[in-house]
Amino acid sequence: MNGPDLTPDLTPDPSERGFTVREIGAFVLFVTATVSLGVWGYRTGQGLAGTGGATVTAVHATVPDGQTLFAGNCAGCHGAQGQGGLGPALKAPAAWAAPDFQRAVMQGVTPDGRTLGAVMPRIAQVGLDGQDATPEQLAALQEYLKTLP
Ligand code: HEC
Repeated sequence: MNGPDLTPDLTPDPSERGFTVREIGAFVLFVTATVSLGVWGYRTGQGLAGTGGATVTAVHATVPDGQTLFAGNCAGCHGAQGQGGLGPALKAPAAWAAPDFQRAVMQGVTPDGRTLGAVMPRIAQVGLDGQDATPEQLAALQEYLKTLP
């Protein structure tokens, strides 16, 4: 047999043993980059989660739905159409000046200074849907009442 020797040479080449300085440098760089990416990704995730919550709150606060607020917090006593039930019809209060309407609903005091009976909840204390009522929500409620027959 005079052809080329095809037996693989398994003897390790002494020059390939261990890592060169370049290889170690590359490895350190890789680990650093991976850790940094991880931390960055984690922080970004936190940031996004925070932003998401804030966005929902903002939408809730700026675009309250008067109809939903009324159905959930008032209709049980004042009737589905505000026509009256346990509480009086709300046709007249719908036309009150906004600050008067808000004082009646929040504090239970009518424009002519009458204190409403205790059955009418003080929204300043109980809130709307279990959350502090905002002026925007009260305005939306009154706007909705104006649309009722
Ligand atoms: C638990 C029953 C109940 C709920 C819920 C309720 N009310 Fe009343 N409300 C009453 C009663 C009863 C009166 C009458 C009190 C009185 O005249 O002394 C009243 C009175 C009022 C008045 C004054 C009406 C007037 O002509 O003097 C307004 C305005 C009013 N409610 C708005 C609301 C709004 C808006 C909501 C929802 C955010 C609401 N109420 C939820 C029972 C309720």
